[in-house]
Amino acid sequence: MNRTPSARRPRIAVVLAAGQGTRMRSALPKVLHRAAGRPLLAWVLDAARAASCERILVIVGHGAEQVRAQFTAPDVEFVLQAEQRGTGHALQQVEPYLRTDPGHESTLIVLSGDAPLVTPATIEALAERAESEPAWGALAVAELPDPSSLGRVFANADGALGEIVEARDATPEQRAQTTINAGLYAFPAPEVFEYLHRLRATNAQGELYLTDAVTDAARAGHRVELHPLADPSESWGINDRVELAQAHRRLIDRHLEALMRSGVTILEPARTSIEPGVAVGRDALIHPEVSLSGTTEIGPACELRQGAWLRDTVLGGGVTIEPYSVLDGARIETGCRVGPFARLRPGTVLRAGAKVGNFVEVKASELGPGAKAGHLSYLGDATVGAHVNIGAGVITCNYDGESKHRTEIGEGTFVGSDTMLVAPVKVGAGAQTGAGSVITQDVPDGALAIARVRQKNLEGAVERLKGQRRARADSKE
Ligand code: UD1
Ligand code: CA
Repeated sequence: MNRTPSARRPRIAVVLAAGQGTRMRSALPKVLHRAAGRPLLAWVLDAARAASCERILVIVGHGAEQVRAQFTAPDVEFVLQAEQRGTGHALQQVEPYLRTDPGHESTLIVLSGDAPLVTPATIEALAERAESEPAWGALAVAELPDPSSLGRVFANADGALGEIVEARDATPEQRAQTTINAGLYAFPAPEVFEYLHRLRATNAQGELYLTDAVTDAARAGHRVELHPLADPSESWGINDRVELAQAHRRLIDRHLEALMRSGVTILEPARTSIEPGVAVGRDALIHPEVSLSGTTEIGPACELRQGAWLRDTVLGGGVTIEPYSVLDGARIETGCRVGPFARLRPGTVLRAGAKVGNFVEVKASELGPGAKAGHLSYLGDATVGAHVNIGAGVITCNYDGESKHRTEIGEGTFVGSDTMLVAPVKVGAGAQTGAGSVITQDVPDGALAIARVRQKNLEGAVERLKGQRRARADSKE
């Protein structure tokens, strides 16, 4: 066969994502189930993107509208497989989307939307093997001790593919084979369509099997290379929620391994969850039960103690998060200390060296450099200057039942314990408020504001009251 030199074949990723996934027992299409914080399909698309495929086609069918809605992007094209008649039938659907005239040959890289652990390196290696003479195509295989429902792969004497037999169509002897079809392929297009057109649903599931087309091509004398996966988890297709949990854990573990190799100490990886998108700087120290997710970034030499829960939060260098603190959408600069039991909500900014202690809640507020809020406070919609001390139990009363108002506290001010700051209100720089004050008016720079009932001492009153009570009791007898 006359083939276009391989270097000129563009690579096109085709992601099969139309299946129903009945064993998930879910109203949600299978590829939308989440592992390590993201839908299964998102991981596959990321791998295809990182492998710089020229086009990405996603075959949708079951739940097509939901899948499209979540994955519409400039570099993704959707192909509808209206009826799900098998993986071979799914790949047939892309033919009208490809130019098949001479000079427009391509390499199709077939991926499964339910196999989230595939890596860009594997996609590239597979395409290269398929494109180098004398190969026609390539197929990723893995050794799994317990391959259960996966397709079994048998090699020819020359080491290339002989046949793939689906578990349900296999004889007991064939089922003993531990080399399995990972469901990742690279094929020449348009050549592969010849074999897809010939498919018949004469198998246990009554489906058009992609695996039959590959076997057919091999039998016709084409060399289909077997590409062994060094990490068999790359072959994991998720069919039920037990496998979903395994893939979730594997995605997290892979990231933890990479972090540890890059200089992060993770004391107990099996009890730690750091989503793959989260960057962690060198010499960070992560204790058990830490959970880091979303767009979180951890600077160098931070220490995150047990139970720290951070989402979409950025930490500068040398920050300590004490146990059981919850940080969501916060920005924490160098050298800050947070917790234990602190809650920092979206819009919290702590400038360098600031400290927030136990049972302190902060929302949409900035604490200046070196500012401290040590105990039992609520700071909402506030701007707190540098080196301010917020006493225990201080509350910004930011909500009047209708709208939110701001509190501003100037640099170096001392806010006495249990001060209620009724917003909108400004406390000047270098000022002070008396403990227990209810501050409803602005406080000038350097002033001491006291807003509470003056104390009265009634000399001897305790004994007098006791005497009165005794007299009343006697008169009733
Ligand atoms: C398939 C392979 C099997 C391989 C395994 C690897 C076939 C016949 N078998 O089996 O050899 O070991 O993957 O995980 O290919 N899909 C569609 N349209 C359909 C049917 C499926 O798009 O009509 C999609 C599914 O959404 C899924 C992927 O194709 O993402 C694989 O389908 P699935 O039914 O899970 O195949 P397996 O039985 O796991
Ligand atoms: Ca599967």
